Amino acid sequence: MSVLRSVVTGVGGYLPPDVVTNEDLSRVVDTTDDWIRERTGIRQRHRASDDQAVSDLAVEAARQALEAAGRTAADIDLIIVATTTADLTFPATAAIVQRKLGCPIGIAFDVQAVCSGFVYAMSVADGFVARGHAKCALVIGAETMTRLMDWTDRGTCVLFGDGAGAVVMEPLEGQGTTADRGLLGFALRCDGTKQDLLYVDGGPSTTGTVGKLRMQGNHVFKHAVVNISEAVIAAAKAAGVEVSDVDWFIPHQANERILKGVANRLGIDEHKVIQTVGDHANTSAASIPLALAHGVADGRIKTGDLLLMEAMGGGLTWGACVVRL
Ligand code: ACO
Repeated sequence: MSVLRSVVTGVGGYLPPDVVTNEDLSRVVDTTDDWIRERTGIRQRHRASDDQAVSDLAVEAARQALEAAGRTAADIDLIIVATTTADLTFPATAAIVQRKLGCPIGIAFDVQAVCSGFVYAMSVADGFVARGHAKCALVIGAETMTRLMDWTDRGTCVLFGDGAGAVVMEPLEGQGTTADRGLLGFALRCDGTKQDLLYVDGGPSTTGTVGKLRMQGNHVFKHAVVNISEAVIAAAKAAGVEVSDVDWFIPHQANERILKGVANRLGIDEHKVIQTVGDHANTSAASIPLALAHGVADGRIKTGDLLLMEAMGGGLTWGACVVRL
């Protein structure tokens, strides 16, 4: 049976040039390169310059994705930006990206699901593209997480970085089988009762400030490994595939130990795991599309490969999606 699928036709990623090493951070807070590497796998992170807004990072990644897809800004009729570090409280960063890229009038809005934002945004975009409401969509994960750091809190400020990743999604007829290209299945979750484990202590309708990131890291860690695995299995079931069928596992890059813990629990071979946390740190909603762009650029991920993406973040939110590239 013929079905319309939303297919990823181009990917792109952008990291600001300024690199901050663990050694650099050891001059800011009481920490060491050894501690950070051992507990997280992080060696360095990129930081946006003072004159770079998150929309600037998003635009760079989007331009690369458009080029890879053989499309131009004029083709875009839907933009979804997953971000927790918007340029402004409003308008949506997606609207700013539309203006900066010079896209025509179309649909543009942000998705706020913190580190799970890209998985949420892909699933939302699928609702437009696979139902014929959009012909060429930009789905972007972009963050300036370093702007939310309390630089006196060594438990959080060493973990995050800035960056953006983007994909172009377009409708394509499939046969309704797991051999089709496109987004084949997803599972999204949120447990709002766990807010205190990971949140930002400010906002427009409470403090009137942006706030700083607060986290009970060890509790987040325990939640991550168990619950992400459940969502991955649910997404694979929705897609009609087995986790063992997956060619590439592209997890949210929060911590090497979480990423390996989830892979082990699911029986995924470590050679199938795309890992960028060491060089990028945790770029929240940007981390999955950045890792995808990395795997495509180095030639490992190819058209037709079955990809499994998963993430967990503030909310707590978590989720997974299965995509045949
Ligand atoms: N350098 C040196 N020591 C540190 C640092 C640091 N940067 N940070 C914390 N410590 C100390 C603590 O003060 C504590 O010292 P104490 O024993 O004297 O009290 C000790 O290290 C152990 O602290 P824990 O927090 O228990 O360390 P843990 O092994 O849990 O590692 C970490 C901390 C890396 C944060 C881990 O819990 C983790 O990765 N959790 C998951 C976090 C995560 O992925 N968050 C992102 C979610 S996505 C999103 O939405 C943003």
